[in-house]
Amino acid sequence: MSDIVYLNGDFLPIEEARIPVLDRGFIFGDGVYEVIPVYSKRPFRLPEHLSRLQYSLDKVRITNPFNAAEWERLTDEIVRRNSGDDQSVYLQVTRGVAKRDHAFPKGVKPTVFMMSSPLVTPAPALVESGVACITAQDYRWLNCDIKSVSLLGNCMLRQLSADVGAVETILFRDGKLTEASSSNVFVVRDGTLLTPPKDHLVLPGITYDVVLEIARAREFEVEVRAVSEAEVRGADEIWVTSSTKEVLAVTTLDGKPVGDGRPGPLFRRMHALYQQFKQDHMRTAA
Ligand code: PDD
Repeated sequence: MSDIVYLNGDFLPIEEARIPVLDRGFIFGDGVYEVIPVYSKRPFRLPEHLSRLQYSLDKVRITNPFNAAEWERLTDEIVRRNSGDDQSVYLQVTRGVAKRDHAFPKGVKPTVFMMSSPLVTPAPALVESGVACITAQDYRWLNCDIKSVSLLGNCMLRQLSADVGAVETILFRDGKLTEASSSNVFVVRDGTLLTPPKDHLVLPGITYDVVLEIARAREFEVEVRAVSEAEVRGADEIWVTSSTKEVLAVTTLDGKPVGDGRPGPLFRRMHALYQQFKQDHMRTAA
């Protein structure tokens, strides 16, 4: 079965989807996106993804082409038209097609594209062993809170870890932890869970919010504050979080073991609670 995508009002096989070369998403990376995990055919935290989409659109001054109910209908439809219970729905809104000129064109219709692929969460063996990460200086721009499709900086940074067979590149700016190339980062020190606050230097992760919500509900010691590079390098545990990675333990950083080199006790607890949270979601989401 061919993947069915949504493009500007139509559902069609992915091979048939076409956009004009002057689409500003293609020419300038002028657009924003979301990645929504779907478990048992039910989108996870869809309202939160849609409000982050609205935030990104507002920041770049693209009018949202749909209201939340319309986005929900389209998401359900793309899930229904594709196979697999667990899917990863990608949606993208670009400013649209216009003669090449940096300034925003007037009266242009945004391009809306949605696709779905199988949701591949980390294999149990990876959850058990943890993963390797490296570090790099965060040289991206200062609007990392916008979920922009202009991801060249993120791709270049991610490639550094891919080059050495590692799973993520953890980023520091001015001696402070920001996030990783495509995930947020948590560290554990002396039993306390630490993570940087949401600001213009990090993407406000939906998984980040879920992890904090669970941690607070279960009375973990939590501090949301600036985390220094030294605190990361000397951490007992490091986790990366995202819609596709969920919560994953980092067991080596730049080739050195994190803590005792195995996923730590807080990670094990959080991972189990996160799986439980998902189960509850699948039961309660209509
Ligand atoms: N990436 N930080 C960055 C830079 C990201 O690209 C992502 C997600 C996250 C985690 O956000 P969330 O928990 O909402 O997935 C943090 C997605 C999955 C991607 O680009 O494929």
